[in-house]
Amino acid sequence: MRLDADITSKLVRAANGADIEVLRDMRLAVEPGRLAALVGPSGCGKTTFLRCLAGLDTNFSGRIALPSEARLGMVFQEPRLLPWRTVDDNIRLAAPDATDAAIDQLLGALRLSGHRKHYPGELSLGLARRVALARAFAVEPDVLLLDEPFVSLDALLAQELRRELAALLGRRPVTTLLVTHDTMEAAQLADTVYVLSERPAHVIDQVDIAIRRIERSAAEVSDIAEDLDRRLGSSHSHA
Ligand SMILES: Nc1ncnc2c1ncn2[C@@H]1O[C@H](COP(=O)(O)OP(=O)(O)OP(=O)(O)O)[C@@H](O)[C@H]1O
Ligand SMILES: [Mg+2]
Repeated sequence: MRLDADITSKLVRAANGADIEVLRDMRLAVEPGRLAALVGPSGCGKTTFLRCLAGLDTNFSGRIALPSEARLGMVFQEPRLLPWRTVDDNIRLAAPDATDAAIDQLLGALRLSGHRKHYPGELSLGLARRVALARAFAVEPDVLLLDEPFVSLDALLAQELRRELAALLGRRPVTTLLVTHDTMEAAQLADTVYVLSERPAHVIDQVDIAIRRIERSAAEVSDIAEDLDRRLGSSHSHA
């Protein structure tokens, strides 16, 4: 499924009552089964944009082309699990139609099989993030929205989770939008990277990565990341 968004303007009301424009002419498209990364300055409007895409905020002008039957998987900046439900139940509540076999396979792929009866309070942040990913995949989404899903994990753990995400997407491609502040992460996972401006956010640069995700060498990934850093850096100094 293709994701196509064109938000001409999105305002939020600040505490002092004034309206702030968070998004302006924020346009992008993600081709079916592709992963686009969004990188941009802190506070520029990335989460706001994802919330609009997810239908959690409908108060904007513009257009989002997504069929009403589209199934959405979303991972928020914080894992947002139900604290009084086990790992199993957190997933089953989100995906009541998922078969036992599908859930077993997903939990295996994310190395959660031993944690099914645990409550979120018993999980480390890394495990909780795995559960949030499992929950998003359990609905067999047409579109996946990931808001910094690996932030504040140590580097090795984040790397492990990226590999697991890549493996899941390899098995079942999903049209994915990944918000990240980590250009290495974008370079590793994305087919296209959209670089955003300061608030009000809009796309100022688009980088299409020709080499397939699984064929990118470590050296190629760091070259792409360096190029992204340069683009991000220069966009800020000219802002
Ligand atoms: N409900 C709201 N009320 C007031 N201001 C808001 C609201 N939601 C967002 N903002 C402001 O809008 C801007 C964009 O917020 P948003 O969370 O979308 O940014 P972000 O790019 O996701 O930031 P980060 O990189 O820190 O996650 C911020 O300056 C924030 O303070
Ligand atoms: Mg955010």
